[in-house]
Amino acid sequence: MERTKIIDAIKHYQEIGKTISVKGWVRTKRGNNSVAFIALNDGSIVHNIQIVVDLANFDETLIKQITTGACIHVIGKLVESQGKGQSVEIQAFEIELYGSADPESYPLQKKGHSVEFLREIGHLRPRTNFFGCVLRLRHAMAFAIHQYFNDKGFFYMHTPLITASDAEGAGEMFNVTTMDLNNIPKIDGKVDYSQDFFGKPVSLTVSGQLEGELGALALGGIYTCGPTFRAENSNTPRHLAEFWMIEPEVAFNDITDNMNLAEDFIKSLVKYALEHNMDDLQFLNDMFDKELIERLNFVVNNDFIRLPYTEAIDILLNSHVKFEYKVEWGVDLQSEHERYLVEQHFKKPVILTDYPKDIKAFYMKQNDDGRTVRAMDVLFPKIGEIIGGSEREESYEKLLRRIQELHIPEKDIWWYLETRKFGSAPHSGFGLGFERLLLFVTGMTNIRDVIPFPRTPQNAEF
Ligand code: 4AD
Ligand code: MG
Repeated sequence: MERTKIIDAIKHYQEIGKTISVKGWVRTKRGNNSVAFIALNDGSIVHNIQIVVDLANFDETLIKQITTGACIHVIGKLVESQGKGQSVEIQAFEIELYGSADPESYPLQKKGHSVEFLREIGHLRPRTNFFGCVLRLRHAMAFAIHQYFNDKGFFYMHTPLITASDAEGAGEMFNVTTMDLNNIPKIDGKVDYSQDFFGKPVSLTVSGQLEGELGALALGGIYTCGPTFRAENSNTPRHLAEFWMIEPEVAFNDITDNMNLAEDFIKSLVKYALEHNMDDLQFLNDMFDKELIERLNFVVNNDFIRLPYTEAIDILLNSHVKFEYKVEWGVDLQSEHERYLVEQHFKKPVILTDYPKDIKAFYMKQNDDGRTVRAMDVLFPKIGEIIGGSEREESYEKLLRRIQELHIPEKDIWWYLETRKFGSAPHSGFGLGFERLLLFVTGMTNIRDVIPFPRTPQNAEF
């Protein structure tokens, strides 16, 4: 008999009265001497389906082995539920045990484990309701991203993970090599990269942007969606060493078009979650964050504030708040500053523009004032920076001068410069941190809880 997913059994009432087959993992079993109630979950939806077992019809040793965590196959009749809290249940005719889970050693015996404990059992964490919600929302957001750009005529471009250029210029890259680290070939005391796999030093990418620009300047609008890697040693609730980034890049867009795209993009993703994942959102709202759904609706329904960096600095200076990090024109804003602007001052998402050039990457379009660039960061409540982007410098001369000022080796970046030599065009783009988006959409407060296998300093177990 074909398996029915629990989501279909719960949501499709035309099946009532039918004999169906369901398979899943036992969340709980309770009951008395004559009847057992099994809450079964198969991951298709956060809700369990109740299996009603008339003990007179089943082997006692089989029933004993059906404990929390066990995997079973049930054939039975789908009926309207007598009990409270569920709409349908299954009266079991046959039960097959696929895999037991020893109650003495199964770590998810009890309900209500802390998210910190669950991180330590990353291999079993997907079996919890909370992480099931996170994984389903991750999928939904990934799907919505592709749908959004496809509908807008953007092309999905695959940019390389192994690269010779440091796109953000922050020097936080993981080296990639096949050399024997215990026996590194050297010439005059320096590593002889000519003997390495690619014949030169290469790293894992920190961003697909530079290659994405090559696509935008040919196809008009592209986006990337892939893993990026940063070896920054910041053990914070918002940083991962391996995270996913979505980077649209659009020819002929200026910074205003770029801001419009970013705002519309995020709003439509949040709207998608509200329209398609309400069961998961309601669970997370009830269990973790009572204001989650309200916050999501707020973002969808309100315009983002747009403000130059210089004005933001004035607001922070006039706030008379004692920040841990000093505020003055020229500093890179810390999360405490970003969150003050978003959560206390404006109480809305904020897009900050026109940052000092010295704290931003080399490729950003230089403003006429000589000291700022056409950068834009989107700041979100509870998160801080969720998007970073800019209009790009399209002038060959200005870009070359900036590359030289920052001592970026031209031999690594000549191909990027050539886009400004041949048919250069105004263009803009941004990067959305996928896990930062998920922090917002799930209401989780630690980025380790929105990615299946977090990579952070000193941690790559699962
Ligand atoms: O601001 P970032 O560094 O911008 C870029 O990489 C540009 N090349 C993007 C572009 O214009 N195409 O990173 C973009 C976003 C940040 O706003 C943040 O959401 C996320 O990526 N991000 C991280 N997320 C998790 N862990 C980290 N270590 C992150 N670093 C950046
Ligand atoms: Mg940034």
